[in-house]
Amino acid sequence: MRRIRINGRRQLKGFIPISGAKNAVLKLMAAALMAPGESVIHNVPHIQDVFTMIDLLKTLGVGVGFEENTLRLLVGEHIGEEAPHELVRKMRASIQVMGPLLGRLGRVRVSLPGGCAIGERPIDFHLKGFRQLGAQIREEHGYIYAEAKELHGVDIQLDYPSVGATENLMMAAALAKGTTQIRNAAREPEIIEVQNFLNQMGARIRGAGTDVIRIDGVEALHPAEHTVIPDRIEAGTYLVAAAMAGGEVTLHPVIPQHVSSLIAKLKEAGIEIQVEDDRITVHSTASFRAVNFQSLPYPGFPTDLLPQVMAMMTLAKGTSVIRETVYTNRYKHVSELRRMGANIILADRSAVVQGVPALSGAEVVVPDLRAGAALVLAGLAAHGTTIVEDDGHLGRGYDNLIGKLQGVGAEIMALE
Ligand code: UD1
Repeated sequence: MRRIRINGRRQLKGFIPISGAKNAVLKLMAAALMAPGESVIHNVPHIQDVFTMIDLLKTLGVGVGFEENTLRLLVGEHIGEEAPHELVRKMRASIQVMGPLLGRLGRVRVSLPGGCAIGERPIDFHLKGFRQLGAQIREEHGYIYAEAKELHGVDIQLDYPSVGATENLMMAAALAKGTTQIRNAAREPEIIEVQNFLNQMGARIRGAGTDVIRIDGVEALHPAEHTVIPDRIEAGTYLVAAAMAGGEVTLHPVIPQHVSSLIAKLKEAGIEIQVEDDRITVHSTASFRAVNFQSLPYPGFPTDLLPQVMAMMTLAKGTSVIRETVYTNRYKHVSELRRMGANIILADRSAVVQGVPALSGAEVVVPDLRAGAALVLAGLAAHGTTIVEDDGHLGRGYDNLIGKLQGVGAEIMALE
């Protein structure tokens, strides 16, 4: 258990570098499995989820080199076909090797992911799509076995624009015979990254970023080299940190369009934001209005930034109504925020947040990754000292969180 101490109410000033996108790089690492040879990925963040994916690739027989922010993946002619339980339970995104392995080997075994901290997260859309592509699927002893003599292109209508299902199906279909269309596809920027990487590997995919993706299957892929886009959720987290704590902070590199729903909300709350090509500057007096919002698939407001903006709303002038529509349980940090003086009422997936004049530092426990970020932000804005107890959640998604915040003048440090 790591303990982080924050002495709140320091104005933030300066520059925060933004790392590569976690939710893109994990999928590119999985995609690399589809071609023998060495694929190279640049701008890879040093976060635990990347290390877990490295472990998974190593169990599949991949040679891995990770220096600075460049990851080299040496994929053999023969690779393994199983994602074991101890890795899938550490990181759900392990299931993203299903599409690549099924596409390349025609078989894959993946431990069934269990529930997770933010609620039920089934993989029925993934499996339904694999079946449509021609795979036989059975579940036994906690594992999913998928097999196909040959995958064939098909029209897939997703029941919901699931990010993971869209990516898994794109990857499997890239090596299927014939054309696949995925309708009601997720439109997240990370899906475009997967398309770009696969196309560099020789795939023929278009439409990512829209709700219809067309994949013309090819016989084989070759290795590729790619630089990952900046992490929009990390950038969003620091935007909210600066808005809440006050000061003047510039983030770089960012793709401002990827955080436009957040920028719109922050501006509505009265925060001054300046957007340039690949940088965003926040000027804040730490005084802002309440705004209402709900999480939605991209380009709607991201569920992964809901807890952070909720933390900000605890200090807003007025009352904010927030609704989580993507997950069943994204409010695990609420009881901790209440212990810091927040006034929040929960009703099903909605939260009513009545702004209070100040939060007071307390000892709080991180329940999951983004909720943990919300608690750190609350600590930065609170009077007195906050101790954040974290069982490894923050390190799963934030590269050098403490160092980056110290760099803009926050009083934050890891204890022991
Ligand atoms: C990805 C992101 C995660 C983000 C989420 C939504 C990664 C590694 N993680 O997760 O950070 O919060 O997108 O933006 O990229 N669902 C089903 N059946 C399925 C698949 C999904 O019911 O087969 C449900 C989920 O339970 C959830 C919703 O659909 O309620 C959205 O999930 P999905 O878009 O698939 O998220 P992930 O890809 O798991």
